[in-house]
Amino acid sequence: MIMGEIPLCRMYVDDEIKKAALDVLDSGWYVKGENANALEKEFADFCNAKYGVSASSGTTAIFLALQALGIGKGDEVIVPSATFIATVNPVILLGGTPVFADIDLTTNTMDPEEIKHLISSKTKAIMPVHLYGHPAEMKTIMDIASDHDLKVIADACQAHGAMAFGHKVGTIADAACFSYFPSKNMTVAGEGGMVTTNDPELAKSMSMIKDHGRKDKHTSVMLGFNFRLSELHAAIGRVQLKHLSDWVEAKRKNASHYNELLSGFEKIITPTEKSWARHAYYVYVIKSKKRDELAEHLKTKGIFTGVHYPIPVHKQPFILDVLPEVTLEHTEEWAESVLSLPLDPQISFEEIERVVEEIKNFYRG
Ligand SMILES: Cc1ncc(COP(=O)(O)O)c(C=O)c1O
Repeated sequence: MIMGEIPLCRMYVDDEIKKAALDVLDSGWYVKGENANALEKEFADFCNAKYGVSASSGTTAIFLALQALGIGKGDEVIVPSATFIATVNPVILLGGTPVFADIDLTTNTMDPEEIKHLISSKTKAIMPVHLYGHPAEMKTIMDIASDHDLKVIADACQAHGAMAFGHKVGTIADAACFSYFPSKNMTVAGEGGMVTTNDPELAKSMSMIKDHGRKDKHTSVMLGFNFRLSELHAAIGRVQLKHLSDWVEAKRKNASHYNELLSGFEKIITPTEKSWARHAYYVYVIKSKKRDELAEHLKTKGIFTGVHYPIPVHKQPFILDVLPEVTLEHTEEWAESVLSLPLDPQISFEEIERVVEEIKNFYRG
């Protein structure tokens, strides 16, 4: 990175992380070991959940939860389109049909009212996404699921440390799925994921599915695959997890600083935090009608931004090949306007002030 540039986010590696990685290399024990088991327990504890089942990525964590909950051929799963494609692909791989619900533009998460209209005799599950770290409105979603006997799988891949209605998101829903991809609130310095649940049977099924459906070394009792998390990544994740609470707190403080500096500036919309929510700020996302020009201006000033996500899932070419075309007014508006500003636990107030100054300069022309 060139001095003076502000990246979208920085990676965190310290001596303890390096030592944890070297210890695994020296141990000669690389898979199915004590680190993955310990991370499962420690991450479940962090979420106040009873069980954690580690996985090779957030995507495979979602796949595990869906398969273990019995989602298969012909089953409909109500999902948002305002998300990363990884929310939806596991549904399709399992032979299910994603049914897209539009979003509430204040939280950018599934609108519970939309869900009600989409339920059919084929609906088996609802999969809300806690996008950007702001939880979906889980109270109403869980009530709808209970009224219609549906499973709820939360895509919490962006929401480590988020809370809704006083509970960590890892405990709300039948299963909650997390990603440890490098940019996330915590990472394993590579690919990794986790499912949390309070259901012992579900945890047991997921543990078998991620290991070829085996109940012991030589006996496969169900269809499974290799979705295991390697020891090297688990060991790094365990050190990262020790920092997670502080990092989320620091990101919240930094997000508040953006909010204060941008308050009253009407050219853009800043993120909302509902009174019942604790936003975990995976990313700090503003909305601008001139999103692409603003991003370009910031880039010329050495400020790097991101777009999460410019093409909603229902408009992806692959999805248009396999599912009927739908219109989602709010989701389409969302995709055209969102811009992620630099945010990580380490960003300084001075850097945030520079980003805001450049946003204001852009609009002053
Ligand atoms: C909302 C969402 N769902 C699913 C995933 C998939 O996670 P992974 O990249 O670890 O497979 C991600 C992360 O990229 C994500 O942001």
